[in-house]
Amino acid sequence: MIKKLVASALFIFWAIVAALMTAGLIFYDKNNQLNLNRQSLNNSNTSTLGLVSLTLAEIVKHNSQGDCWLLIDNRVYDVTAFISRHPGGSTAITPYCGGEASQAFQTKNQNTPHSQQALNILNNLFIGNLNQEINISSAIQNINNNLINLNNLSADDDFDFENEDD
Ligand code: HEM
Repeated sequence: MIKKLVASALFIFWAIVAALMTAGLIFYDKNNQLNLNRQSLNNSNTSTLGLVSLTLAEIVKHNSQGDCWLLIDNRVYDVTAFISRHPGGSTAITPYCGGEASQAFQTKNQNTPHSQQALNILNNLFIGNLNQEINISSAIQNINNNLINLNNLSADDDFDFENEDD
């Protein structure tokens, strides 16, 4: 009888520990992505009004996997939150961080275009047009919304694009 009680108590204890650890991990992952994006915006030259000009000089600063802006058809995208989930691997994108990526994106460097789903994801990561002055707080707001969209997408289909009908 006592043995049974001890065993159940132990089981419940470990179940609680496992649940807390899982919750902690999920929370950490989400926060990490948000921090990455906040950091990428903090790298920017902001005026006292919190405005950033999306000039080439600004874009070029965001040139790493942890802070990656792409220029595609004169539009600027912050792909930092997506890069580690890119189905073609993060190394396909990193060489273009901080610069012109139109042709690479259009052809995947393989003469085949990205799917409509890829275009949808890209639209979620849009921060402004080349040389446009953007408001830093609305950019942060957009990025947060986009992360929610991205997380929903990954929850819906786990980014299993290979099996999608385009
Ligand atoms: C800029 C340079 C990029 C290159 C060179 C590149 C290259 C590739 C390659 C080689 C694949 C795997 C092969 C395949 O599935 O057909 C792929 C797949 C994919 N990429 Fe990219 N990619 C780039 C940027 C992006 C960006 C910025 C996004 C989204 C924001 C994206 C979204 C996807 C998606 C969703 C797939 C799965 C297949 C599809 O839906 O077309 N890629 N990419």
